[in-house]
Amino acid sequence: MSERTLVLVKPDGVARGLVGEVLKRIETKGYKLVALELRTLDRATAESHYGEHADKPFFKDLVDFITSAPLVAAVIEGNEAISGWRNMMGATNPLNAAQGTIRGDLATEMQNNVSHGSDSPESAAREIALFFPNL
Ligand code: RTP
Ligand code: MG
Repeated sequence: MSERTLVLVKPDGVARGLVGEVLKRIETKGYKLVALELRTLDRATAESHYGEHADKPFFKDLVDFITSAPLVAAVIEGNEAISGWRNMMGATNPLNAAQGTIRGDLATEMQNNVSHGSDSPESAAREIALFFPNL
């Protein structure tokens, strides 16, 4: 079933010049880009995006990080894109992410793990509406 999901190239990925690498993997996999933007998040948007983690000890560091510099936000579309993109990113902690995945290939630290993907249809709908209300 065709789905849309939110993709972020997080500030570490943009700063390291990995936008092209990530977008290349998305395009060569076969997903369609339906929205794409470079932007710096304000705190309110970041806190809303990661609201599920508001009570976690890493929440403030996560919001500090994700608002620290420009990120790239995108919406991609394709068959089973939500789980497919999560598989392409690999495990949250790059130390556990398989080789061949974005986090396994391109990252070494839990927080600076290059990319984000929505984790369910409900999250995807909420996150797409937050980042691209006109879609
Ligand atoms: P994301 O939401 O960014 O796609 O990552 P995820 O689903 O794989 O992982 P999640 O549990 O939602 O965590 C969100 C992001 O918070 C940072 N994090 N830091 N220091 C820590 O223990 C810790 N745990 C999570 C990571 O940047 C993670 O991607
Ligand atoms: Mg998550």
